[in-house]
Amino acid sequence: MKNWYKDVVGYQIYPSTFKDGNNDGFGDIVGIIDKLDYLKELGIGLIWIGPIYKSPKVDNGYDISNFYEIDEKYGTLEDVKLLLKECKKREIKVIFDLVLNHTSDKHEWFIDACENVNSKYKDYYIFKEPKVIDGIKYPPNNWKGFFEESVWEYVEKIDKYYFHIFSKKMPDLNWDNKDLREEMYAVARFWLDLGVDGFRMDAIAHLAKDTSFKDAYPLDEKLVLDTSKFSNRDELFDYLKEFKEEVLSKYNCMSIGEVGGCASVEDALKYVDYNNGYFNMVFNFDTCWENGAYGSIDKADSEIKTNVKNLKLLFKKWYDGIFNKAWMPIYWLNHDHPRVISQYGNINYRNESGKMLGLTLLFLYGTPFIYQGEEIGMSNVNYSDFDMFNDVHAKNFIEEYKSKYDKEVILRFLNRTSRDNARTMMQWNDSENGGFTNSESVFKVNDNYKIVNVENELKDDDSILNFYKKMIFLRNTKYKNEATLGKLEFIDLDNEDVFAYTKTFDKKIMVIANFRDYIVEFDNYIQENDIILHNYKDINIKNKKILLRPYECFFLEIKGF
Ligand code: GLC
Repeated sequence: MKNWYKDVVGYQIYPSTFKDGNNDGFGDIVGIIDKLDYLKELGIGLIWIGPIYKSPKVDNGYDISNFYEIDEKYGTLEDVKLLLKECKKREIKVIFDLVLNHTSDKHEWFIDACENVNSKYKDYYIFKEPKVIDGIKYPPNNWKGFFEESVWEYVEKIDKYYFHIFSKKMPDLNWDNKDLREEMYAVARFWLDLGVDGFRMDAIAHLAKDTSFKDAYPLDEKLVLDTSKFSNRDELFDYLKEFKEEVLSKYNCMSIGEVGGCASVEDALKYVDYNNGYFNMVFNFDTCWENGAYGSIDKADSEIKTNVKNLKLLFKKWYDGIFNKAWMPIYWLNHDHPRVISQYGNINYRNESGKMLGLTLLFLYGTPFIYQGEEIGMSNVNYSDFDMFNDVHAKNFIEEYKSKYDKEVILRFLNRTSRDNARTMMQWNDSENGGFTNSESVFKVNDNYKIVNVENELKDDDSILNFYKKMIFLRNTKYKNEATLGKLEFIDLDNEDVFAYTKTFDKKIMVIANFRDYIVEFDNYIQENDIILHNYKDINIKNKKILLRPYECFFLEIKGF
């Protein structure tokens, strides 16, 4: 089964830090339009743009106060229309973020629900009575949300708690309510009617909650994060069925749900099975943290090491589970993760490891999504103080843990894992602010922008960016069928250092990638004239073994297989 979204390479734009087109220090739609030619030349066929709707931006736009309005920081509806037109001209598809799980607390529905005892919007959200013990009011249960807080927040005026799995500034919507569901379908229709090609659907796994709201285990724990209370629940699939029937099936659109770390392969198939799924793909996070960095507050930097074997097993598990049954996205990071070069690569081998990571990903099973700056080897931040962090999750984390851990330990952990890593300004050139803006900005630029930037990379034939262009071109043309339809087989799956695989359709292609900063011996599968791309100038063969140098990688076409 072939669809356009299988053939393209996607690119994620985090709009506030991609490109400032009007020099107010904030990325915007005009800035994106300015850079469409850059993306086209890179070979991109699909862009996913993070939320640009009206928002107080407590969570950088995922807290929406009006679903129909473009936030003035990003531009206007006219700008969006122009963007869609310019994308069409260049044959680039555009998907928007669609946030169906929650609103901002500044949304008029929520304001009304909190102010007005008889508000018709009260049932658009989840309100509960306090639990009263000895005359003292407590939250209705012990559930903890994703942002290090209780899922409950008290509203004095109406003497009720409301439910939120992310920031307290982002109350969850009540999908049990048919009126609310219809409102959200209308939002989706509005943007599809305007001409967007589909959606990345934020936090979609969480629309249905366990409405018994019973305490989570262990019961005596003050706060417990038990994601099963609000992930992949049966009622969710009823809602998605309705959403598909009433909206998605009526348009020629593409849909991709974010199911994060809470969905197994079996869960995922419920969402995306070719025969009776509801979307075209779902993002899982399984392959994002295979170096032990997640929850690694007690670990020294030396304990963080990519588990290459597990990484392969995870890609294999997803491929085995869904090949021929469904399609999936492949990606190393998004705006919620650290930079992949700092995660699985090595900034001391920026050029080698940047290329190696790109190549490893690009021909696996699925539609690749490149995150802004990945193609030039942008890396993690190195902040020396708490107030340098911007992200709401990092801020909550600091508040929660600053009395329990030394400052250095928290900084080490956040520099390694925080979402701020991916959200610094895109580095376009070596001028101040990396050419992202000409004015002051609330956003930060990574200190390395004088060296790591698009302009430098474009000038250098041997750059990561030029390597990306070559590989994307190959994926888009000569090896499209192998990439999209080919059978995936891992080579030497047990190897702890090398990620190698073949994809076979009409042709047979092979990727060999050393994930280490030291030389690794590997069986020699290489005929010199099979080499299509390589990130070193020569080959190092000894005793019929190939000696793979730090982050060395090959892309081969195995002739006459
Ligand atoms: C998703 C987004 C993340 C956001 C959250 C709440 O996980 O990717 O950035 O904070 O949903 O909308």
